[in-house]
Amino acid sequence: MSVLLLLALCTLATGCGASYPPQPATIPSPLLSLDCNSSYVLDIASDILQDINRDRNDGYVLSLNRVSDAREHRQGAGLGSLLYFTLDVLETGCHVLSRTPWKNCGVRLFHESVYGQCKAIFYINKEKRIFYLPAYNCTLRPVSRRVVFMTCPDCPSTSPYDLSNPRYMEAATESLAKYNSRSPSKQYSLVKITKTFSQWVFGPAYFVEYLIKESPCTKSQDSSCALESPDSVPVGICHGSKSQSPQHPGKLISVTCSFFNSQAPTPRGENAAVNQRPANPTKVEEPQQQNTAPTNSPTKAVLKGSVQYLPDWGKKPEDSQEKEPVETVPVQLDLTTNPQGEPLDVSFLFLEPMEEKLVVLPFPSKERRSAECPGPAQKDDPRLLPP
Ligand SMILES: *[C@@H]1O[C@H](CO)[C@@H](O)[C@H](O)[C@H]1NC(C)=O
Ligand SMILES: *[C@@H]1O[C@H](CO)[C@@H](O)[C@H](O)[C@H]1NC(C)=O
Repeated sequence: MSVLLLLALCTLATGCGASYPPQPATIPSPLLSLDCNSSYVLDIASDILQDINRDRNDGYVLSLNRVSDAREHRQGAGLGSLLYFTLDVLETGCHVLSRTPWKNCGVRLFHESVYGQCKAIFYINKEKRIFYLPAYNCTLRPVSRRVVFMTCPDCPSTSPYDLSNPRYMEAATESLAKYNSRSPSKQYSLVKITKTFSQWVFGPAYFVEYLIKESPCTKSQDSSCALESPDSVPVGICHGSKSQSPQHPGKLISVTCSFFNSQAPTPRGENAAVNQRPANPTKVEEPQQQNTAPTNSPTKAVLKGSVQYLPDWGKKPEDSQEKEPVETVPVQLDLTTNPQGEPLDVSFLFLEPMEEKLVVLPFPSKERRSAECPGPAQKDDPRLLPP
């Protein structure tokens, strides 16, 4: 380990090769492979996921299932490290707008599971107390209907983000109408549907989750009110369902809603929410844009990343003779393709002027990951783990 470290440092420092006698045949990668089950790695993985969830305005909070790969690239003196992490994740039941920490959110039941992988590049400078996520990308996929059918033929089985069936919209609008009819004064309107399921119970049943906003109309104005609210900030999320059966010719509607408390000001000011970090990463300028757009670009989030949703592998249970396909969740995250690396300007994170730049490398492939990776999984189910 210490030899590896020495080699890694040597590739960064010039003139080091002369003092290091046996010249290796190939230039070793400056990336150190870390133990995916170490508390160092698990703590960083937890922070990364927290930052990813905080950066998103769409979808559900992701929780850590296991660390798949973790590499560290130590930078020059006083510059800390760039980390390359690959995390296997599971979707939880909390919407990201609830801003609930992922550790407080339960993962979904097996038949509703959405699993996937995130790649992240994370910058740590303990000396300067900087923890910063320059880039991430995630890919998610629902557990396949075919697998659900094999283990639980009666479970709800529709793709979790299928809006093609108009019944889901019906379930949303009718369940929200029921909620509004019970609300003493305030009325709410639909922002969008975020999750769908269907199930055959004694007849078709449709389940939806949807975001709601406050409606400017009050209850007394009733259905005649056609005011549109000026903004559409979601204030909460509802779970609604609509089902029918021969025994109950009338439709059955159920609804529960919960409200986000993100609007409430934090008791001790905004800093309380950012883990005592010196610079609030969401408030600094986009580093990549400084070259291309030197104009007065508004201070906006530097965090760069997205979550991609792939469809179900969707094989019908009938063609189960054919070989099980290898399910993949490809995630691309490359700030550079140059094997020598490229400079990454993070000077905006430092209070004092900073000349040196970090070196960012192409994201490492998992071929040379440590023997201690992947780490143990919270849900050790091969159907919920990327290969
Ligand atoms: C993130 O993924 C998208 C595709 O989902 C890709 O277009 C984009 O280049 C990726 N970002 C980086 C930094 O590689
Ligand atoms: C991971 O670490 C925990 C705590 O240190 C330990 O109990 C567990 O056995 C480790 N698991 C593996 C697979 O190494």
